[in-house]
Amino acid sequence: MAQLWGGRFTKETDKLVYNFNASISFDRKLFAQDIEGSIAHVVMLAKQGILTKDEKDTILRGLTAIRKDVDEGRLQITEEYEDIHSFVEANLIERIGDVGKKLHTGRSRNDQVALDMRLYIRLEVLCVDELVKELLGTLLRIMEENTDTYMPGFTHLQKAQPVTLAHHIGAYFEMFKRDRSRLKDIYHRMNYCPLGAGALAGTTYPLDRNYTASLLGFEGPSLNSMDAVSDRDYVIELLSALSTIMMHLSRFCEEIIIWNSDEYRFVEIDDAYSTGSSIMPQKKNPDIAELIRGKTGRVYGALVSILTTMKGIPLAYNKDMQEDKELTFDAVDTVKGCLALFEGMIRTMKFRKEVMERSAMKGFTNATDAADYLVGRGVPFRDAHGIIGKLVLYCIDKQCSIEDLSIEELKEISPVFEEDIYDAISLKACVEKRLTTGAPGPEAMQEIIAIEKDYLAKDWQIERSI
Ligand code: ARG
Repeated sequence: MAQLWGGRFTKETDKLVYNFNASISFDRKLFAQDIEGSIAHVVMLAKQGILTKDEKDTILRGLTAIRKDVDEGRLQITEEYEDIHSFVEANLIERIGDVGKKLHTGRSRNDQVALDMRLYIRLEVLCVDELVKELLGTLLRIMEENTDTYMPGFTHLQKAQPVTLAHHIGAYFEMFKRDRSRLKDIYHRMNYCPLGAGALAGTTYPLDRNYTASLLGFEGPSLNSMDAVSDRDYVIELLSALSTIMMHLSRFCEEIIIWNSDEYRFVEIDDAYSTGSSIMPQKKNPDIAELIRGKTGRVYGALVSILTTMKGIPLAYNKDMQEDKELTFDAVDTVKGCLALFEGMIRTMKFRKEVMERSAMKGFTNATDAADYLVGRGVPFRDAHGIIGKLVLYCIDKQCSIEDLSIEELKEISPVFEEDIYDAISLKACVEKRLTTGAPGPEAMQEIIAIEKDYLAKDWQIERSI
């Protein structure tokens, strides 16, 4: 049991208490960030004359050696330490002797852990963003290849009006674009350095917090030391953004599962992204899409969990906040895995264009266009709606589509119909006429694709500061 705070105690900590309190089993993930923060802190302490140059050099040598030894597997982060901070400090003292005991001057584990988490999240925001960007690249490629792949558009999972595959995929493109903009907002809002806040009330040493902040690539220091050590808003914002990404992935997965079913056959998931059944030899299941859909609950759980943990905590630091780590680590790893797998699944998936097109021709997806045809010939829309409604009923009875009816049958229902009705309600015409911005008509779609291409080529890039 290696602790940093034995002085005031007369008894050993109970073993169960020690284990319950310890965080090394998971905060070991913050090792790189902990070292990075300590290096910046020590450089600042020396600049301010709080450490001598020799002391600084010795401590920095010790810290970089520890990092190298851990990275190269010569030093294990074991559970005999309470947390990652104790592990680093104890190893430092063991290596360089008493001067190592000066590392923690003007610092508390409260501002230290707040820094570590910010460094971790800042980096992960960029990693997740990169994965979403890759997915967007794949979606854009599918869009470019499918501006004239017709398919039914649905409302209530009932066929509504014809769209194209490019248009349908384009809807997800917008969702993931917004996800990226949320990540960007989070990055900028959280990019302030808590180091120097101490336990809660700053320190009496003449620290240069601006300097530490700039060394670590932050916009500046946080402006209130109590807030700095007890703020977990950025964790909540991240988990909220991750939950939204998962919600989008989950909706997309749900559609793929439906499209991949024998009833639809719009797509075929590649063998490499499907699994079989132990009993039914014919089965090829969309397990990956289902698992991504399933893991959404896990990420939402992390968000609700941290919101609940934080809701009643008085200022400033309280140990409850240690609970932010495992769930954040798990959510970040889950989302990264899901994004990568989803991208691979959709990249390798086969779209059955003919099946989609055939499906778009059924289910009266051209009924609105038939009504619009009548409107174009002077029939008020409400009356046109009623006429086409009757027409649909007649077709259901005959088990055919509107375009299968003869002109005589059509005229019987409304004398306004002429031969040109057949061209007006063909699938191609129905899609091509939809040319307002954001609509599926191929020309309108090309304009949007150009905008999205431009967006992917020159959108924000944050330099990786660490
Ligand atoms: N393991 C702690 C956490 O994750 C580090 C901060 C400990 N601070 C303290 N005052 N006990 O929150």
